[in-house]
Amino acid sequence: MKVDEVLQCSFPSWYNKFKDITIKSYMIPLPQEFIDYLHADGIVLPAESITASAQESNDDNMEGEEIDVDWDDDDGPIAEEPSFPEFETTIKNKIKSCGGKVFPKLNWSSPQDATWISFDKTLKCTCPSDIYLLLKSSEFITHDLTQPFYKCEDYDEDRSDITVKYHLILRQWQDLNPAAEFRCYVRNNQLLAISQRHHSIYYEHIVDQREDIVADIKSFFYHMVSPKFPCTNYSFDVYRRDKGKLLLIDFNPFGSVTDSLMFTWKELEEAESLESTGTDSADFPAFRCVARPEGVQPSPYATCGVPRDIIDLATGQDPYKLMDLLKLKVQNQNEESSDDDEDTIATPTT
Ligand SMILES: Nc1ncnc2c1ncn2[C@@H]1O[C@H](COP(=O)(O)OP(=O)(O)OP(=O)(O)O)[C@@H](O)[C@H]1O
Ligand SMILES: [Mg+2]
Repeated sequence: MKVDEVLQCSFPSWYNKFKDITIKSYMIPLPQEFIDYLHADGIVLPAESITASAQESNDDNMEGEEIDVDWDDDDGPIAEEPSFPEFETTIKNKIKSCGGKVFPKLNWSSPQDATWISFDKTLKCTCPSDIYLLLKSSEFITHDLTQPFYKCEDYDEDRSDITVKYHLILRQWQDLNPAAEFRCYVRNNQLLAISQRHHSIYYEHIVDQREDIVADIKSFFYHMVSPKFPCTNYSFDVYRRDKGKLLLIDFNPFGSVTDSLMFTWKELEEAESLESTGTDSADFPAFRCVARPEGVQPSPYATCGVPRDIIDLATGQDPYKLMDLLKLKVQNQNEESSDDDEDTIATPTT
């Protein structure tokens, strides 16, 4: 994998060329203070974004009732509130232009590992603070900002010829059916392999329609993608809305920073080892999907989120855990108070 291949997969590099076959999106250059904010420890939302979203939801849903909460916490330093009013106004305008709901990402990655922190456990954002919270909580976003050329064979820290202009990408929100998403791998300009995108789930219709799916994706690749994409090795994601109706979702580098899904990178790099689908006279692309209900795997983001114990405690789903926690707390208090007693000098009573 080369630096230039990674740069070509950056959203601003390809979007204008593929505008007609992908989801409507806006690219907003990131101001340096926002990049610094993303790098900083802790999550503090800009005051104006909170006030604005609270105000909007107040206007929408409530009638006059005010809840006075004192958020001040005397224990500890108060982090400085960031402020980027201009950037925020642009975000609000673009959200409006997208119909009120957007999917956020940076040049390469979306904060898919942070959905656990959002209200509805998705990346759907309706106001700037939704976006800030997801971006600040995601390690994938930190990776985009700090190590975009990780694993590139021609990259080293001393290279001064590479500059990345970071953008916030806001894509119009689409209710996508995960069963219609596929990831395709291209090597030497040849469509090598296609995998079901969400490989932790069994979808019966994919198995039934595999020949049509492969034919549609092949045609989309040779007519719409390959003639305009400048690299010879890459991966791209497609959404097959209906027979013959495909939408481009994203480009990704051809290398282990991209999930190989139902293949292994060894197989993809040594293409001869791939089985053919047998659906066409040509050997490729190989096509893989979950063929049986027993073939399901754990969700790839199952390890990203709040610890199970905290969820059980917060929702009261497991009362025994709460009782154990309370017992532990009482035990600790008893231990502390008996330590205090030992430290106290006894005063004689009269
Ligand atoms: N505009 C959108 N509206 C709703 N969901 C979307 C939208 N765009 C993408 N998605 C969903 O989010 C998933 C991830 O999107 P995308 O591929 O752009 O993110 P990514 O971070 O580049 O992912 P990866 O690291 O796997 O390449 C998609 O598979 C799709 O299910
Ligand atoms: Mg991607």
